[in-house]
Amino acid sequence: MSRLIVVSNRVAPTQEGLPAAGGLAVGVLDALQETGGVWFGWSGEIVGEAGEPVIEKQGNVTYATVGLSRRDYDQYYRGFSNATLWPAFHYRTDLARYDRQEYAGYQRVNARLAKQLKALLRPDDIVWVHDYHLLPFAACLRELGVRNPIGFFLHIPFPVPEMLRTVPPHEALVKQMCSYDVIGFQTETDRQSFVDYLERGGFGTASDDGMVHAHGHMFKAAAYPIGVYPDAIAKAAVQFSDRKPVRALRDAMRGRRLIMSVDRLDYSKGLVERFQAFERFLLNAPGWHGRVSLVQVAPPTRSDVQTYQRIRQTLEGEAGRINGRFAQLDWTPIQYLNRKYERNLLMAFFRMSQVGYVTPLRDGMNLVAKEYVASQDPADPGVLVLSQFAGAAEQLPGALVVNPFDLSQMAEALERALSMPLAERQARHADMMAPLREMDLSKWRDTFLADLGHVATAATVTRNA
Ligand code: ADP
Ligand code: G6P
Repeated sequence: MSRLIVVSNRVAPTQEGLPAAGGLAVGVLDALQETGGVWFGWSGEIVGEAGEPVIEKQGNVTYATVGLSRRDYDQYYRGFSNATLWPAFHYRTDLARYDRQEYAGYQRVNARLAKQLKALLRPDDIVWVHDYHLLPFAACLRELGVRNPIGFFLHIPFPVPEMLRTVPPHEALVKQMCSYDVIGFQTETDRQSFVDYLERGGFGTASDDGMVHAHGHMFKAAAYPIGVYPDAIAKAAVQFSDRKPVRALRDAMRGRRLIMSVDRLDYSKGLVERFQAFERFLLNAPGWHGRVSLVQVAPPTRSDVQTYQRIRQTLEGEAGRINGRFAQLDWTPIQYLNRKYERNLLMAFFRMSQVGYVTPLRDGMNLVAKEYVASQDPADPGVLVLSQFAGAAEQLPGALVVNPFDLSQMAEALERALSMPLAERQARHADMMAPLREMDLSKWRDTFLADLGHVATAATVTRNA
């Protein structure tokens, strides 16, 4: 039987402890633990000299991880991946910078990782590469003569062509992407942006069945929205509802309504706008003072990238200012916690809350939105307030969908969510559970891998014809 080899920059920790916060690690771990396979990527360590992969087996997953030297980390991870690609792909060209040496480092690390993976590969392995750190990875493997099926899934948005062209080496990068056999996107919108870029630039064409012919390659480009396991989440939310931190939050709320937000502390998540819209809600609805709190859990991420240091400072300032303005001796409007929690505890927090407040300015999917819905008690569910710019908005019709740039609209949505009658909450929840069950995490993995199998077989037949 062929092995599944997953490749990503971030690999979920192999030791006991908190999982990495982030949709990729959470989704891939859940998907891989079921099928078994190899997970290759960065160990999360900065080392003196990048050495050979460390191999460790846990259950049916074999982890093969490598360290990055300080120079590799600075150029490939902190630099081109997170200070050029991440902001540009999230429509924040104002925060993006470009440095040729960082780009060279990005290409160099991709080439080296490909070489290290090649040494571990068997001829019938299937390779599934994840996310923006590794756009050139298949091209690097092909250059080394690797002929295995290689698929790619982009967890973040794919920007419209005008935005992509702000990344100076856009042409070379997209050309390298065309070496994959299948390219998966979170949404139809992302796939369309990719095809638009190729077609308008005269680089290739797409047909109705999703096949693309570009830069001399035939491959498939399609949307495979990442999902969750809704029933497992619901079960965890119930099981963990008696744990100490959950009880502590329940006691702290003392009968107050709870608006719950959980994100990595990232400028793409719209945290500042979210706090300001909550402030506007408090201004508009004094009757709610003392009766509702916003709990924002936001562990710092990529804290050595300057733009992340700035967002943290701004947000601390805003939380302090808003609390100073409205707090009463026995009521703090915003509780802002910079820490991670065990995922099951988060699900129990979600179940206890009346509103899930998920308002990114731009997001590939946003698993938190799906986790929020799955955690609810169907008999008395909370309401999801969701940004129209999260990929999840295409699949969760029962949410109160808002424009995160419209603070007044968000404030109104909060008020509406807090006062929504039970029958409407139940109907909206049921509307969202159906697609969550239908497009769960195994469907994401299985449809992607089935397509990869078909396309790669067809490509081999053509190559050998
Ligand atoms: P992103 O991938 O951009 O971080 P997602 O919402 O898609 O955004 O995925 C985030 C994942 O990380 C979710 O599964 C969520 O439960 C988890 N997560 C987010 N914040 C925390 C936290 N404070 N502690 C633990 N897990 C977290
Ligand atoms: C998002 C990205 C992932 C990344 C995660 C956490 O989910 O799509 O690729 O792993 O954020 O970010 P980090 O930089 O800590 O890996």
